Amino acid sequence: MDEKYRAVVVTVSDRASAGVYEDETGPAVAAFLAGHGYEVAGTLVVPDDRPRIEAALKGAAEKDAALVLTCGGTGFSPRDVTPEATEAVCERRVPGLPEAMRAASARITDRAWLSRATAGIRGRTLIVNLPGSPRAAVENLEAVVGPLAHGLDILRGGPATCAISGA
Ligand code: MTE
Repeated sequence: MDEKYRAVVVTVSDRASAGVYEDETGPAVAAFLAGHGYEVAGTLVVPDDRPRIEAALKGAAEKDAALVLTCGGTGFSPRDVTPEATEAVCERRVPGLPEAMRAASARITDRAWLSRATAGIRGRTLIVNLPGSPRAAVENLEAVVGPLAHGLDILRGGPATCAISGA
Protein backbone atom coordinates (compact mmCIF):
# COMPACT_ATOMS: atom_id res chain seq x y z
CA MET A 1 0.00 0.00 0.00
CA ASP A 2 1.49 3.34 -1.04
CA GLU A 3 -0.20 5.47 1.61
CA LYS A 4 -2.04 5.19 4.90
CA TYR A 5 -5.57 5.29 3.49
CA ARG A 6 -8.51 6.65 5.45
CA ALA A 7 -11.31 4.16 6.00
CA VAL A 8 -14.83 4.48 7.37
CA VAL A 9 -16.80 1.52 8.78
CA VAL A 10 -20.60 1.65 8.54
CA THR A 11 -22.53 -0.96 10.52
CA VAL A 12 -26.02 -1.45 9.12
CA SER A 13 -28.37 -2.85 11.73
CA ASP A 14 -31.80 -1.84 12.99
CA ARG A 15 -31.15 -3.35 16.40
CA ALA A 16 -27.63 -2.03 16.92
CA SER A 17 -28.72 1.45 15.82
CA ALA A 18 -31.65 1.28 18.26
CA GLY A 19 -29.31 0.29 21.09
CA VAL A 20 -30.87 -3.19 21.50
CA TYR A 21 -27.33 -4.53 21.45
CA GLU A 22 -23.91 -3.05 21.12
CA ASP A 23 -22.27 -3.13 17.71
CA GLU A 24 -19.28 -5.47 17.88
CA THR A 25 -18.74 -5.83 14.15
CA GLY A 26 -17.72 -2.24 13.40
CA PRO A 27 -15.02 -2.27 16.10
CA ALA A 28 -13.76 -5.70 14.96
CA VAL A 29 -13.47 -4.51 11.36
CA ALA A 30 -11.89 -1.21 12.48
CA ALA A 31 -9.27 -3.13 14.50
CA PHE A 32 -8.52 -5.35 11.52
CA LEU A 33 -8.07 -2.29 9.29
CA ALA A 34 -5.84 -0.53 11.80
CA GLY A 35 -3.70 -3.66 11.96
CA HIS A 36 -3.33 -3.55 8.17
CA GLY A 37 -2.10 0.04 7.93
CA TYR A 38 -5.37 1.96 7.51
CA GLU A 39 -6.36 5.08 9.40
CA VAL A 40 -9.91 4.45 10.63
CA ALA A 41 -11.51 7.87 10.28
CA GLY A 42 -14.86 6.84 11.71
CA THR A 43 -17.26 4.07 12.62
CA LEU A 44 -20.99 4.64 12.50
CA VAL A 45 -24.16 2.63 12.95
CA VAL A 46 -27.25 3.17 10.81
CA PRO A 47 -30.56 1.27 10.57
CA ASP A 48 -31.49 -0.98 7.64
CA ASP A 49 -32.98 1.94 5.79
CA ARG A 50 -31.92 2.74 2.24
CA PRO A 51 -31.89 6.55 2.49
CA ARG A 52 -29.95 6.40 5.76
CA ILE A 53 -27.40 3.95 4.34
CA GLU A 54 -27.01 5.96 1.14
CA ALA A 55 -26.51 9.18 3.14
CA ALA A 56 -23.81 7.52 5.26
CA LEU A 57 -21.98 6.24 2.16
CA LYS A 58 -22.22 9.58 0.36
CA GLY A 59 -21.02 11.41 3.48
CA ALA A 60 -17.96 9.20 3.79
CA ALA A 61 -17.13 9.72 0.11
CA GLU A 62 -17.58 13.48 0.49
CA LYS A 63 -15.08 13.41 3.33
CA ASP A 64 -12.72 11.68 0.89
CA ALA A 65 -12.48 8.31 2.65
CA ALA A 66 -10.53 5.97 0.38
CA LEU A 67 -12.40 2.92 1.66
CA VAL A 68 -15.86 2.43 3.14
CA LEU A 69 -16.74 -0.97 4.55
CA THR A 70 -20.34 -1.73 5.40
CA CYS A 71 -21.23 -4.51 7.84
CA GLY A 72 -24.55 -6.31 7.62
CA GLY A 73 -27.76 -6.11 5.66
CA THR A 74 -26.58 -8.34 2.81
CA GLY A 75 -28.79 -11.36 3.46
CA PHE A 76 -32.37 -12.27 2.56
CA SER A 77 -34.26 -10.60 5.39
CA PRO A 78 -36.90 -8.22 4.00
CA ARG A 79 -35.03 -5.35 5.70
CA ASP A 80 -31.64 -6.26 4.11
CA VAL A 81 -30.99 -3.50 1.56
CA THR A 82 -27.28 -2.69 1.96
CA PRO A 83 -26.31 -3.94 -1.55
CA GLU A 84 -29.12 -1.92 -3.16
CA ALA A 85 -28.06 1.23 -1.28
CA THR A 86 -24.43 0.62 -2.26
CA GLU A 87 -25.21 0.14 -5.94
CA ALA A 88 -27.38 3.27 -5.93
CA VAL A 89 -24.46 5.49 -4.87
CA CYS A 90 -21.69 3.87 -6.96
CA GLU A 91 -20.84 4.78 -10.53
CA ARG A 92 -18.75 1.67 -11.16
CA ARG A 93 -19.16 -1.90 -9.96
CA VAL A 94 -16.30 -4.03 -8.58
CA PRO A 95 -17.71 -7.57 -8.77
CA GLY A 96 -14.42 -9.41 -8.14
CA LEU A 97 -14.14 -8.48 -4.48
CA PRO A 98 -17.49 -10.00 -3.39
CA GLU A 99 -16.83 -12.96 -5.69
CA ALA A 100 -13.54 -13.59 -3.87
CA MET A 101 -15.15 -13.12 -0.46
CA ARG A 102 -17.92 -15.59 -1.22
CA ALA A 103 -15.50 -18.14 -2.68
CA ALA A 104 -13.19 -17.93 0.37
CA SER A 105 -16.10 -17.99 2.83
CA ALA A 106 -17.70 -20.96 1.09
CA ARG A 107 -14.73 -23.02 2.28
CA ILE A 108 -15.91 -22.19 5.81
CA THR A 109 -19.70 -22.34 5.34
CA ASP A 110 -21.90 -23.00 2.32
CA ARG A 111 -24.18 -20.25 3.63
CA ALA A 112 -21.61 -17.84 2.18
CA TRP A 113 -23.45 -18.26 -1.10
CA LEU A 114 -26.43 -16.51 0.46
CA SER A 115 -24.48 -13.25 0.69
CA ARG A 116 -25.77 -10.60 -1.74
CA ALA A 117 -22.77 -8.35 -0.95
CA THR A 118 -21.59 -5.98 -3.65
CA ALA A 119 -18.74 -3.51 -4.09
CA GLY A 120 -18.35 -0.39 -6.15
CA ILE A 121 -16.61 2.91 -6.66
CA ARG A 122 -18.06 6.34 -5.99
CA GLY A 123 -15.60 8.95 -7.21
CA ARG A 124 -12.34 8.20 -5.41
CA THR A 125 -13.98 6.00 -2.77
CA LEU A 126 -14.21 2.20 -2.82
CA ILE A 127 -17.26 0.79 -1.01
CA VAL A 128 -17.35 -2.90 -0.04
CA ASN A 129 -20.13 -4.79 1.74
CA LEU A 130 -19.30 -7.28 4.49
CA PRO A 131 -21.68 -9.56 6.43
CA GLY A 132 -22.99 -8.52 9.83
CA SER A 133 -21.40 -10.88 12.34
CA PRO A 134 -17.94 -9.91 13.61
CA ARG A 135 -16.36 -13.22 12.68
CA ALA A 136 -17.94 -13.40 9.22
CA ALA A 137 -17.02 -9.77 8.48
CA VAL A 138 -13.36 -10.33 9.34
CA GLU A 139 -13.25 -13.65 7.45
CA ASN A 140 -14.58 -11.88 4.36
CA LEU A 141 -12.19 -8.98 4.70
CA GLU A 142 -9.21 -11.29 5.12
CA ALA A 143 -10.02 -12.81 1.73
CA VAL A 144 -9.53 -9.51 -0.13
CA VAL A 145 -7.28 -7.30 1.99
CA GLY A 146 -4.29 -7.84 -0.34
CA PRO A 147 -5.84 -6.96 -3.71
CA LEU A 148 -7.96 -4.28 -2.05
CA ALA A 149 -4.84 -2.31 -1.10
CA HIS A 150 -3.55 -2.52 -4.67
CA GLY A 151 -6.92 -1.37 -5.98
CA LEU A 152 -6.79 1.69 -3.74
CA ASP A 153 -3.31 2.52 -5.00
CA ILE A 154 -4.68 2.53 -8.55
CA LEU A 155 -7.91 4.35 -7.63
CA ARG A 156 -6.02 7.04 -5.75
CA GLY A 157 -3.74 7.66 -8.73
CA GLY A 158 -0.54 6.52 -7.10
CA PRO A 159 2.46 5.24 -9.02
CA ALA A 160 1.28 1.62 -8.82
CA THR A 161 0.69 -0.28 -12.00
CA CYS A 162 -0.91 -3.68 -12.41
CA ALA A 163 2.34 -5.18 -13.69
CA ILE A 164 3.47 -8.10 -11.56
CA SER A 165 7.15 -7.80 -10.73
CA GLY A 166 9.20 -10.30 -12.67
CA ALA A 167 6.39 -10.92 -15.18
N1 MTE B 1 -19.21 -15.52 5.45
C1 MTE B 1 -18.42 -16.08 6.38
N2 MTE B 1 -17.09 -16.07 6.17
N3 MTE B 1 -18.91 -16.64 7.51
C2 MTE B 1 -20.26 -16.68 7.75
O1 MTE B 1 -20.67 -17.18 8.81
N4 MTE B 1 -22.51 -16.06 6.92
C3 MTE B 1 -23.30 -16.00 5.69
C4 MTE B 1 -22.76 -15.01 4.66
N5 MTE B 1 -21.32 -14.93 4.68
C5 MTE B 1 -21.14 -16.10 6.79
C6 MTE B 1 -20.56 -15.52 5.63
C7 MTE B 1 -24.72 -15.78 5.90
S1 MTE B 1 -25.52 -16.96 6.86
C8 MTE B 1 -25.41 -14.74 5.35
S2 MTE B 1 -27.10 -14.67 5.46
C9 MTE B 1 -24.71 -13.69 4.59
O2 MTE B 1 -23.31 -13.73 4.84
C10 MTE B 1 -25.24 -12.28 4.81
O3 MTE B 1 -24.99 -11.83 6.11
P1 MTE B 1 -25.65 -10.48 6.67
O4 MTE B 1 -27.13 -10.59 6.47
O5 MTE B 1 -25.24 -10.44 8.10
O6 MTE B 1 -25.09 -9.33 5.88
